[in-house]
Formats: sequence, structure tokens, C-alpha cells
Amino acid sequence: FWLFRGRRRRRQGEPPLENGFLPYLGCALQFGANPLEFLREKQKKHGHIFTCRVAGKYIHFLTDPFSYNALTRQGKHLDWKKFHFATSAKAFGHGSIDPAEGNTTENFHQTFIRTLQGNALDALIDAMMENLQYVMLQSRTSKPQPKAWVTEGLYTFCCQVMFESGFLTLFGKELNTNNDATLSPKQDAERAHILNAMENFKEFDRIFPALVAGLPIHLFKSAHSAREKLGEALLHKNLQKRDNLSELVTLRMFLNDTLSTFDDMEKAKTHVAVLWASQANTIPATFWSLFYLLKNPEAMRAATKEVQTVLESAGEKISPEGRHISLTRKQLDNMPVLDSIIKEAMRLSSASMTFRVAKEDFTLHLENEFYNIRRDDLVALYPQLLHFDPEIYADPLTFKYDRFLNEKGEEKTDFYRGGRKLKYYYMPFGTGIAKCPGRLFAVHEIKQFLTVIFSYFELELVDTNVQCPSLDQSRAGLGILQPANDIDFRYRLRCL
Ligand code: HEM
Repeated sequence: FWLFRGRRRRRQGEPPLENGFLPYLGCALQFGANPLEFLREKQKKHGHIFTCRVAGKYIHFLTDPFSYNALTRQGKHLDWKKFHFATSAKAFGHGSIDPAEGNTTENFHQTFIRTLQGNALDALIDAMMENLQYVMLQSRTSKPQPKAWVTEGLYTFCCQVMFESGFLTLFGKELNTNNDATLSPKQDAERAHILNAMENFKEFDRIFPALVAGLPIHLFKSAHSAREKLGEALLHKNLQKRDNLSELVTLRMFLNDTLSTFDDMEKAKTHVAVLWASQANTIPATFWSLFYLLKNPEAMRAATKEVQTVLESAGEKISPEGRHISLTRKQLDNMPVLDSIIKEAMRLSSASMTFRVAKEDFTLHLENEFYNIRRDDLVALYPQLLHFDPEIYADPLTFKYDRFLNEKGEEKTDFYRGGRKLKYYYMPFGTGIAKCPGRLFAVHEIKQFLTVIFSYFELELVDTNVQCPSLDQSRAGLGILQPANDIDFRYRLRCL
């Protein structure tokens, strides 16, 4: 009897229900082991909408892309904030950021849009271009020497370069860097400090899925201590010592100080949340973009040609000892081949999930049907089903660098299913009100990374026949999946 206690019975007008076999957990283990396979199986059995009991919650999955807009259209019955705010507070350890709970009156979502998009994005892009070159050419310990190949793990490389450059871009520098080939002792100390933050970030990031699933951080001693150390590093008194803080961080510090009752550590933890959001998906997305390029010579040729053309038309010349190259936002926006490559790499590696919580009992209207939904149930989209749908993307597991280019070589936006044009066909950044506010910056960062690396370096895989690493499913639902293993590559400075 206890096995079945607490299980729901399907009522009339509700979607088909999967209670799962396990008490409380329901379908959680099957879902967690391979969400895509699990959802495909249930879709085959029940059709395009069904309900699964997962860890005590009832989740209604909408699997038909033509129904995805139900989430926005019927937004008044659905809450996007509660779940996000509660998850952020639980994972990062700050107090509630829900203005309704009285700790702050800041509208975080608005702050993010204001400081990551529009004019603010230009400044982020300029800083990132400078920082990427500083990191790749000056700061890294295995400094590149002309003609000498350096061998490294590709994931390790992408992680170090993107973390250090992204950190400097958002949180500024302790002092002005010089352009010399050697770092001053102070710059060395600064670099050690950022690499230390990276180690803490990785330690914390490893257990992030467990925190989202509801486990308390106290169960993970070293990750807990890593999170506290990240908080220490981002205390306002430490950030105030840094130059060139981004508008995002400056404004957030001001609003923390003026609109919230958070103590110093809680304020710092809101910055840890921003640091995590800015890095956790960007790093694997950068890895996959570069990995697929290294595996596909045709894509590599098209990408390097586009980089050369854009640099030439911008009048930029490469000289490893001299002035850094710079490209404006407009010039970067005119790189459709890199855009297509980054999109294709993310299509293949993204497993984000969009959630909304029912505010009340209501009737969910889909295209031609409607279903009753109970209060506090979740309504979810799992766009990997869409990204891997062979009707939308022929041969869906294969990387095709020009999949998002039309005959004119411009961005392709017409994708079809059952002869109908799709509005939703590519969703690694989520959708609707909670769509990632950093998405434009993220794509620019990866484009800049690729532009800089192809400009200064020759690079190749150590084993050109190496298998594509499988996707580590432990982060399914949370964004871009990491590779299950690293891949060796080598690089050397181009002879100029
Ligand atoms: C939220 C994806 C990079 C800042 C999100 C969400 C997704 C996402 C799926 C949740 C949306 C939802 O719940 O529906 C990605 C991917 C990235 C990336 C795939 C890189 C490839 C960035 C960057 C920043 C950023 C570089 C810069 C700071 C944020 C913030 C939120 C967010 C602040 C929370 C928004 C809110 O709750 O108001 N991102 N993101 N992201 N992302 Fe990104």
C-alpha cells in the first residue's frame, strides 16, 4: 500500500499520467538516466502531452513544437519566477530575491536585460575581445612560442580561456595590465587568484544538479567550501578594489546596497549566481563549437575564410607582439558562417528545460484540444526533442556546419514539420519571459574566441580520427551538456 500512497489518479480532462514505479521519486531515475529516450518513449505511448511524476512533482510535458506558444499565450496562469527564485536561493545560498518576500525590491530580470543588451553589450564585447587576447597571448602559463606545438585537453583549454576572459570582462581587473610578453608579479598574483576562483567554480558546478534537485549543500563539504570562497572573492569590499567592472556588476552592487536588506555575504552570493550563469553554459558551448570545427575540415575552411575576410575588411592585421585586433559589434554580427557553426554545435549539445508553475487550477488550451492542469503542477518543454527531430533536422546527429545558412549564405530561419513552418525550432536559451538575457553576449563571446584563436594559432586534433565524446547527461535539463571526456589537441602560433 505504501508504494502507492500519495500517487495521483488521472481525472477526466487531464493528460495521460505516468506515476512511475518508485514511491515519491516516480519516474525520476528513468528520466535522469536518459531524459531524451524516456520522453520519446512516453511520447510514443501517450501522444504529444503527458504527465510524469518526478520527485514528488507532477510535470506536464508538451512535446509538440506547435504547442510551445501555449506557455506564453497562457502566461497569466503560469508563474516563471517562483521556481527560478527558489532554485537560485537554494543553489547559491542568498536570501530570497522575490520582491514579494521583502528582502529586496530589485527586479533582477530587468537589471540583466538593461546591462547585458542594448548599448551595454557594446562595452562587454569590446572588453571581451581585449581580454581574450590578453589571456591567450600573455596570461597563460604555457606561453606560446613560434613553431612550438603545445598539446592540451580541448575542454581544459576552453574552460581556462573563457573563464579567465569572462571573469575579467564582468568583474574587471585588479590593476591595468601591460602589453609586455611577460607578466609582472602583480599580474601573476591576479591570474593565480582567477584560476583559484575557476577551481572553486568547477568544484561547485559539479554538484549544481544535485542542489537543483533539492539536496542540501551541507552534504557536499568541499563544494560548500568552494561556494563560500567564491562568495569571499566577490564581496563588495573586494570588488571595489577592481578596475573596469562591467555595468552589470556595478549596477547590481548599487542595487544590492540601496534596495536590499542582504548582508555582505548574501550580496556577494548574488554575484556568484551571475558568475555561474555567465560561465556554466558558455564553457561547454565553446568546447563543442571548436571541437566540431576541428573534426570537420570543410567547416574549418569556411570559418577561417570568414574570419580572414572580416578582419581584412575591418583593416585589422595580426601581429602577436603588437596591437591587439578589435572588431565592432556590427562586424561580428556580419559572420553568418560562425553563427551557423555555433548554432549547430549548441543544437547538438543543449538539453535545457523550460518550466512554468501553475498558479491555480486552469484549462490549458493547445492547438486543437484542451487539458485540465492542477495548481502547483509544472508545465515543461524539453527542446532537445525538437533539436533531434529527424523531420526538422535531417540526419539529426550529424554536425552540418551550414545547417543554419540559406542558399544566399545568410541566416536560415525556415524549418518545417509536417509541411508546416515552425516558429520554435532552436531553443538552447529557453523561451518567453525567462529567456536567457545573456544570449547575445554568449554568442558574441564564442565568435570572438573563434576569431582570436584562428587569427593567432594553427590548431589540430592530436588524433584526427578521435570519436566525438558522448554527452554527460548529469546536467540534463540545465543547459549545455559537457563532454563525458576531454580530447587532446595541439596548437602553435602562426608564423606571421
Ligand atoms: C538564464 C542558457 C550564457 C546570463 C538562462 C536560461 C537558459 C540560459 C536556458 C534559463 C531560461 C529559462 O529559464 O527559461 C544560456 C546558454 C548560454 C548562456 C545556453 C551560453 C551558451 C549566458 C551568459 C550570461 C547569462 C554569457 C551573462 C551573464 C543569464 C542570466 C539568467 C540566464 C542572468 C537568469 C535570467 C533570469 O532569471 O532573469 N540562460 N545562457 N547567460 N542566463 Fe544564460
